[in-house]
Amino acid sequence: MGYKELYDGWKQDPDAFWMKAAEAIDWVEKPSKALFDDNAPLYEWFKDAQVNTCYNAVDRHVEAGNGARTAIIYDSPITDTKHKISYAELQTRVASLAGALRAKGVEKGDRVIIYMPMVPEALEAMLACSRLGAIHSVVFGGFAAHELAVRIDDATPKAIIAASCGLEPGRVVHYKPLLDGAIEQATHKPDFTVIFQREQEVAALIPDRDFDWHGFQAGVEPAECVPVSGDHPAYILYTSGTTGAPKGVVRPTAGHLVALNWTMKNIYDVDPGDVFWAASDVGWVVGHSYICYGPLISGNTTIVFEGKPIGTPDAGTFWRVISEHNVRSFFTAPTALRAIKREDPKGLLIKDYDISCLRALYLAGERADPDTIEWAQREMGVPVYDHWWQTESGWAIAGNPAGIEALPVKIGSPTVAMPGYDVQILDEGGHPMKPGELGAIAVKLPLPPGTLPTLWNAEERFRKSYLTTFPGYYETGDAGMIDEDGYLYIMARTDDVINVAGHRLSTGAMEEVLAGHPDVAECAVIGVSDALKGQAPVGFLCLNSGADRDEAEVVKEIVKRVRDQIGPVAAFKLAVVVDRLPKTRSGKILRGIMVKIADGAEYKMPATIDDPAILDEIKVALQTIGLAK
Ligand code: COA
Ligand code: AMP
Repeated sequence: MGYKELYDGWKQDPDAFWMKAAEAIDWVEKPSKALFDDNAPLYEWFKDAQVNTCYNAVDRHVEAGNGARTAIIYDSPITDTKHKISYAELQTRVASLAGALRAKGVEKGDRVIIYMPMVPEALEAMLACSRLGAIHSVVFGGFAAHELAVRIDDATPKAIIAASCGLEPGRVVHYKPLLDGAIEQATHKPDFTVIFQREQEVAALIPDRDFDWHGFQAGVEPAECVPVSGDHPAYILYTSGTTGAPKGVVRPTAGHLVALNWTMKNIYDVDPGDVFWAASDVGWVVGHSYICYGPLISGNTTIVFEGKPIGTPDAGTFWRVISEHNVRSFFTAPTALRAIKREDPKGLLIKDYDISCLRALYLAGERADPDTIEWAQREMGVPVYDHWWQTESGWAIAGNPAGIEALPVKIGSPTVAMPGYDVQILDEGGHPMKPGELGAIAVKLPLPPGTLPTLWNAEERFRKSYLTTFPGYYETGDAGMIDEDGYLYIMARTDDVINVAGHRLSTGAMEEVLAGHPDVAECAVIGVSDALKGQAPVGFLCLNSGADRDEAEVVKEIVKRVRDQIGPVAAFKLAVVVDRLPKTRSGKILRGIMVKIADGAEYKMPATIDDPAILDEIKVALQTIGLAK
């Protein structure tokens, strides 16, 4: 069966399509049907089923006789460590950790925050939560204490599982002081924490609150898998929205299992036992879906890579990992390849390794620029498939269904809509647009299994953010077009979200931090083009009159403030002081024009601009930091 037949088959009978996909999951109680639409426009999938995620990701493979198969390969060029964990070992470790969490009172429905670097224990912590039906929320290690505190207050976790430290090239990330600071700042206090002590930095534990990862498992009864209903939240993952308050994307258990399992063969073209590698971080959705759950649910071997594309130790690391571990499908962000290409433009390091095991490269997380795709195709000698999705969807909205039928690649397009997604381009009034016309990208409701049913604690925000602009559709926040052949093109965000090195960040959140500085009267943050990271944030500051301050000092304080409050991941390094910001007559800051000026692009003077002369001032200010050339 080809793509078209499959997609049309789904469209004709979505319930039959998803019930068939659901046969690959081991249910405690099977679902009676796929879609539950009684609460439309909020939808649920496989709601009346009983199932356990951890059982499907771990135990069932052991019971099927595949316990000796490698589940996780840990490869850490940063610590010079490599080891393998079989499915049987993983089952023992996860059951023990879950048992210890249960002994301390963690039960079905309780939230557990996980703040860990790229070590196998991060996956074990996630799986131990799903074993108990507890709802985990993983927080990326590059976020600072304040961001962690915000998530603690929203998710109100019973426990927090953390490592003593993370390791960035040349720098130890002191997780424990960050964790202590976050708990101190947060209004909600967890009952206890579990600390995985790494030998690179052993943290001091607070008696009766902090428990040692190994110590607290001693003598406990291993936990069995606890069945949950199909709509039970498997996890919450916070992502950037327009304001400083992150959105808690909820992932429903059953749809997540069915959809991810479906993607492993149909999109990533791997069979059980094949090695699949996503070079991302468990703190992002790619890490949830394709380092942890997807590959394990379908019985693959996954790689936990603690390193960077360059510098650990060189730009050949990815090729070493691929060849050494026999990787069949590889997934990374375009930024990582741009970093490698910059260091090794001729791909010489690739030739040091035999990467003939690799069948295809998958890119997502940000726009894949044609240069990078062409370079990868040429130097790696495999097809390069761009695919487009979001934290909210949890899996590809558009991609190249290589496991069904590899469609011709059109560079610049993440190819076509996957079954489950009726993707349309809408004008401002919500009317479908013609092929080739640029508009808002929306998906006709219902979204397929595995996608977000709501936001944690914020159903109204869910409706307002995604369902209100275009009634009957999910608003993706991306703009683009579909060509005559049905290929999708993603052009830009329609909101204040920017994408820095494949990391989704909110300029609104950064503006809140800037505005909090005592000398700042007004501010704006924009995302300018960056050759390596795709985009980079730049801040504009108008100082209070009478703030007799050295401007360079204020800029330094602002840069530190963003790093301390949001975290190093914001990569906020550039800011300028200006007298005023360009605005419309009604007072709206013209951020779009500022981006164009910074990028040296053409722009049209908006008719509504209050004072066009300000644009020249902005240009001059940007030139002082090497932009607007
Ligand atoms: N914990 C703590 N700090 C982290 C971190 C983590 N898990 N991840 C990143 N940081 C820090 C970095 O150390 C850096 O700090 P610095 O300002 O002290 O240098 C800062 O956050 C910015 O990181 P990043 O934007 O990643 O830039 P970089 O210069 O360190 O590396 C690349 C550049 C291109 C090599 C890197 O961005 C990369 O590997 N990108 C791939 C991104 C990716 O896989 N994204 C996942 C989306 S699918
Ligand atoms: P995240 O939720 O962090 O995965 O970020 C999702 C956003 O990243 C999308 O809404 C897009 O703006 C962008 N994005 C992800 N994948 C792609 C892609 N293949 N092409 C263009 N943009 C992408």
